[in-house]
Amino acid sequence: MRIRILAGVAAVAIVGAIGTAVAYKVDDKIQVAAAVDDFRLADHEGFAHSLRRLNDVDAVVLLSHINGDAGSRTAAKALELLKTKYPKVEFMMLNSALGATRDQNAAEAKVQGLTIPILQDEHQLAGEQLGVSYAGEAFVLQPRTLKVLYHGNVDGAGKALADIAAGKMPSVAKMEGSGTEIAFPERQRRAQHAQISYEKDVAPILMAKCVSCHQDGGIGPFAMKDYAVVKGFAPMIREALRTDSMPPWYPDTSAMKLKHDGSLSNEQIKTIVHWVEAGAPRAGGPDPLAAVATVAPEWPNGKPDLILNIPSHELPASGVVDYQTKIASDPTTKSRWVKASAFLPGDRRAVHHILAGHIPGKPLEGPASMSQWQNSYGQYGTGGRRLGGAGRVGRRAAGKRSYGLPDALYALWQGERR
Ligand code: HEC
Repeated sequence: MRIRILAGVAAVAIVGAIGTAVAYKVDDKIQVAAAVDDFRLADHEGFAHSLRRLNDVDAVVLLSHINGDAGSRTAAKALELLKTKYPKVEFMMLNSALGATRDQNAAEAKVQGLTIPILQDEHQLAGEQLGVSYAGEAFVLQPRTLKVLYHGNVDGAGKALADIAAGKMPSVAKMEGSGTEIAFPERQRRAQHAQISYEKDVAPILMAKCVSCHQDGGIGPFAMKDYAVVKGFAPMIREALRTDSMPPWYPDTSAMKLKHDGSLSNEQIKTIVHWVEAGAPRAGGPDPLAAVATVAPEWPNGKPDLILNIPSHELPASGVVDYQTKIASDPTTKSRWVKASAFLPGDRRAVHHILAGHIPGKPLEGPASMSQWQNSYGQYGTGGRRLGGAGRVGRRAAGKRSYGLPDALYALWQGERR
């Protein structure tokens, strides 16, 4: 590695955004990925970005970035210019600097007048696998395949985009560049990743965050019941963690801490991803997942007070099926406050999700109309008192088997008038 001290870095260091006053040239020892794996990261405004769905663009350009860094700022300005020239190209900046925050990215975007989103690579997994080494390093990717067509300085990225706009592959795939080094400590720890213990490090995370759904009879499509299953799904598990699709936990964890937070910490995500990359090794000894292998209860909240049967529905072997409105009549005439509900699909392979509402005054037989359904999506209330707004009696969705209302909140279920 050729490290040299850059003049002018002292002034940058005063900004406080970088710890080391060293910069270095492209280091050939750092392997740039031939193709990038997808990720999902939030930008400085909180919007999520991933690569796989960018199918209708000519190219995707990623620029590594450090807030307050002079070289980064020059490169960002150059990228903004390219953005005005190439409207069919998707531009993003990637901040993999350890400890950087979304608020700092937002401040940087504001001060620098940037319109390109700054993605916070908070666990460094995007920059690590892409092969980023310095701030201001540009990567031009082919949509869909996510192949790296070019990497190096921004000027070279401009030339690559000109080639792509002319319908050609970039004639130059790599250009020298330099900038402030971005430290990726896990890169030096590759050898140690093989020591990550399935038994002590990985299985406990899966047990705490995945097995409640990924068990026999659970809502997840496969049961993590022993090492063999986890090893078989290891590449998919890595992808699900990098793209933040698992566990299904939608709140923005940076905004506030919530009770029963289902998300994984950055450390937990890194542990599993690096373990998978080390070949998902197993040291031996008892398998913690096999020891606790559980079967989900038939009814997640205990046997319900009222069970209604939803009429069955035949599915064609292929094609698109519209939403189906099915009526399940309550044979009693009692009004009640519903606290929780759950669904048992007849065939789990065919049911993706169910939304359920209570339609007062609906015909006892036959389907309800869409507008009847939309207007009567249930009501929330607190113990006897009705609250405004649409509520739901229940739903089943990917990741949600049962539906319970928080303390002191109930859904009103009016008895049928006959
Ligand atoms: C709340 C329930 C729930 C939890 C918790 C959960 N999963 Fe899933 N998982 C699902 C469901 C449901 C699907 C199927 C998604 C679909 O078909 O839309 C799924 C699918 C998957 C898949 C298949 C690929 C994909 O993305 O669809 C993988 C891999 C996976 N989960 C891994 C995990 C891991 C690893 C964890 C824990 C870190 C986890 N899941 C936690 C419910 C869950």
